[in-house]
Amino acid sequence: MATIDAAIAPARPVRRADWLGRSATFCYLAIAAGQLLFVAFILLYYYPPTLTGNFAAWNEKPIITGFVAGDTAGNLFFAVHVLMAAVLTFGGLVQLVPAIRSRWPALHRWNGRLYLVSALTLALGGFWMTWGRGTWLAIGGAIGITLDALLIIGFAALAWQAVRSRRFVDHRRWAIRLFAVASAVWFMRVGYMAWGLATGGAGIGKAMDGPFDLFLAFANSLLPLAVAELYLRADARGTPAARKGVAALLALSGLVILAGSAGAWTMMWGPYI
Ligand code: HEM
Repeated sequence: MATIDAAIAPARPVRRADWLGRSATFCYLAIAAGQLLFVAFILLYYYPPTLTGNFAAWNEKPIITGFVAGDTAGNLFFAVHVLMAAVLTFGGLVQLVPAIRSRWPALHRWNGRLYLVSALTLALGGFWMTWGRGTWLAIGGAIGITLDALLIIGFAALAWQAVRSRRFVDHRRWAIRLFAVASAVWFMRVGYMAWGLATGGAGIGKAMDGPFDLFLAFANSLLPLAVAELYLRADARGTPAARKGVAALLALSGLVILAGSAGAWTMMWGPYI
């Protein structure tokens, strides 16, 4: 099976299927499984009430600030946010499938544009919900998600700029980095679940203000970004030992993601649909 980078690297040769390639594919499949569960939750829990105007139903599960009577702007921002969340999460997975990239390049291009627009909408809208609407519990969490919004905007601009000037190798790198940080809110949910399963919830505060909350507020974007960076470097010019090391890291990440995603579905999403 081809590695994920073949999906977004038209100018690059097809790679040999070594352990790094196999682990990258495994890690992608684990991410895809977990993100498809997230998309299913959004489509089943948020889409029906949002599309029929029954915004009050958002509050049937614990959230910080969902529907607020009389707050038209805040409710509309929230509505657009949850609708675009499914588009972005599904669209990111589609962008990375090698067969789609090579067989239907027009689909890759249009889905790529939609991905960039939804990433910017979520980042800017989420920024306003955090600081304009005041939706946050702990200041560390608010700053962490703001950093994520800035990274999304920056990487989206760089991925777009690179593809406009036909620098496809650079485009591939920025697109993978963008995927890592645009997946941060999903990583956060999966991270909480994996950590909870492993430790019983050590360091998680009642108001999301414990040491683990603070760590994850920043790690949800910076950790996947660091792993993506290691993968890009090992893949481009890694020694055989480095390639094996990163392959092991990707395999471990895939296992943690599978466990965290199963936990998220069982405890966070499944019970509400
Ligand atoms: C880019 C990918 C993003 C996705 C896929 C996403 C997804 C979601 C989803 C599904 C919800 C509904 C709450 C839930 O059921 O858990 C939500 C709420 C929210 N999001 Fe995002 N989001 C993203 C980015 C952001 C960013 C960058 C920010 C801030 C800068 C942000 C701020 C918020 C806020 C403040 C809420 C309301 C939370 C609450 O009331 O509990 N989001 N997001």
